[in-house]
Amino acid sequence: MERTRTLMFDEHGHGDPLLLVHGFPLNREMWAGQVPALAPGRRLIMPDLRGFGATPPAAEPAALTLDAMAAEVRDLLDVLSIQRAVICGLSMGGYVALAFARRFPERVQVLILADTSARPDTGERRASRTEQIELAERAGTAALIPLLVPLLLAPRTAAEVPALERLYAGMVVGTSVAGLVGGLIAIRDRADSRPFLAAMTMPSLVIVGEQDAITPPELSEEIAAGMPNATLVTLPGAGHMANVDAPDRFNAAVLDFLRNLSTDVSH
Ligand code: MLT
Repeated sequence: MERTRTLMFDEHGHGDPLLLVHGFPLNREMWAGQVPALAPGRRLIMPDLRGFGATPPAAEPAALTLDAMAAEVRDLLDVLSIQRAVICGLSMGGYVALAFARRFPERVQVLILADTSARPDTGERRASRTEQIELAERAGTAALIPLLVPLLLAPRTAAEVPALERLYAGMVVGTSVAGLVGGLIAIRDRADSRPFLAAMTMPSLVIVGEQDAITPPELSEEIAAGMPNATLVTLPGAGHMANVDAPDRFNAAVLDFLRNLSTDVSH
């Protein structure tokens, strides 16, 4: 297979496909705590988005968009001959999942949006992304570590498991400048997804860490309220990386939701 033309990915298990889309500035390895719980009975597919992990950056990072990232996820499903999947994205992965659900609703069996937002960046946030782009280009990706990594985890997890922040710092250093810049541009220039929420009628689960410092709970509440068929789960004590801060409760929320859906369908 010509792997460089599609996204690189990891795959575990067999069964109904569940695609896990990572956040910024990370890669598919952020889902390590989900694999043992979610893979049994399911086909877990974890891509590296364009420019992250093992997927090379875009030829023109300045032109990268969330819609293009969503189209690459669709291309990956095509390559794997998967017509419909559960699409789960966290933060930037959630922005991609929202773009995917808007563009390819027929490919979404269930939408799971974790610690994300339907809103576009504010003017202030856009300006800080531009500063981060300039900093990465001037000083390299490591210069972004103090700006990005400390906000990811709940303070308690960061204190109890310091290796996690080192792991994420390693992911930032392992990402090329072109990869990080492309991601920052795509996030900075993302469209407002709020007008499309009402048309997203697929069963949806919205999960948020109560202490999410990047995309706070009210943004997830807004998504769940705007979608016709959404359930909101708030995880006390968890931060932005709710799947890492509270892996057992995150996994249980996903599994319960999917099991309840299949029970509903079979009755
Ligand atoms: C992420 O976790 O993907 C990013 O923090 C999202 C963002 O900065 O908007």
